[in-house]
Amino acid sequence: MTKINIPLPSTPYNVYLEEHLLDHFSSYLTTVDDMVIITDSGIPTAYVHTVKEQLNDPLVFTIPAGEESKSLTNYQAIIEEMIAQNIPKSGTVIALGGGVVGDLSGFIASTYMRGISFIQIPTTLLSQIDSSVGGKVAVNSKLAKNAIGTFYQPKAVFIDPIVLNTLEENQLHSGLAEMIKYGLIKEPSIIDILEKDDWRSNLLELIEMSIIVKRDIVLQDEFDQGIRHILNYGHTLGHAIEQHSNYQFLHGEGIAIGMACMARKTPFYQRLVAVLKQFDLPYTLPYPLKELVPYILKDKKVHDKFLHFVLVETLGQAIIKPIPIEKVQEYLEEII
Ligand code: GLY
Repeated sequence: MTKINIPLPSTPYNVYLEEHLLDHFSSYLTTVDDMVIITDSGIPTAYVHTVKEQLNDPLVFTIPAGEESKSLTNYQAIIEEMIAQNIPKSGTVIALGGGVVGDLSGFIASTYMRGISFIQIPTTLLSQIDSSVGGKVAVNSKLAKNAIGTFYQPKAVFIDPIVLNTLEENQLHSGLAEMIKYGLIKEPSIIDILEKDDWRSNLLELIEMSIIVKRDIVLQDEFDQGIRHILNYGHTLGHAIEQHSNYQFLHGEGIAIGMACMARKTPFYQRLVAVLKQFDLPYTLPYPLKELVPYILKDKKVHDKFLHFVLVETLGQAIIKPIPIEKVQEYLEEII
């Protein structure tokens, strides 16, 4: 068992990482009563049963798989039913699924009776190494991804890499894009490992390395006021692509393109493209830049009329560059 402590002053918690952890995660809980499982239609029923049978008669909500489910409509439907079912303040919301389930569940937990306990059991690589750790929870507005949300840390995160065996290949690759991001912004040895033929035999270590990069950044800036922006390398363009495609591009695919665009003029561009190609990830802009700019200007990294772009010029060293919003299109045309 690997235990990664996230020692945030207000909410310290542990990320537990172990093969077959799903079968006995409840041994780490102080209670198994008043549990609410939120999962989606893409999660194998065997996983839902394994979680459910360790709890005392939990309430289970299954939302349709897909980004569209991260909606105010689902938020309201679930929270009203929790009220109707008398889930007490001492209850716990368990997110069993990927980033959509985790973000929606966390937002529900953060607002139900002004906040109840929240546990993450992420089942995609992307949610295991990114969205389940660090406390960002949200639903999408029709106009902007993650526009309605807050910071709400889980009580614990349980990661079982065995569940990745049933993950579709494109979803696994989408998660690898976030892993490559950690390599670019902070820990180039992650890329060294991914470039090897036997990278998959190091998956547990890669997950741990990724969470440690994220942990160390979140500890410096829990509420995303500065340095935490570097976790969004490639995301400004990536989110715009995801939204403009109506979420036909997976998150990791969008950020793969975003990272490649931002790295276009760097010495490591060819190396980045090679590793993206290795995992069938896209790396060229699928739409004219001007179609993406309206989404880009709604990015949460716009402060005081400046968009804070994340740049990596030297592998492993990310910097933040503020660009006046009226110059954003011109700036991007120059670097892409
Ligand atoms: N996924 C970016 C962050 O957690 O800040």
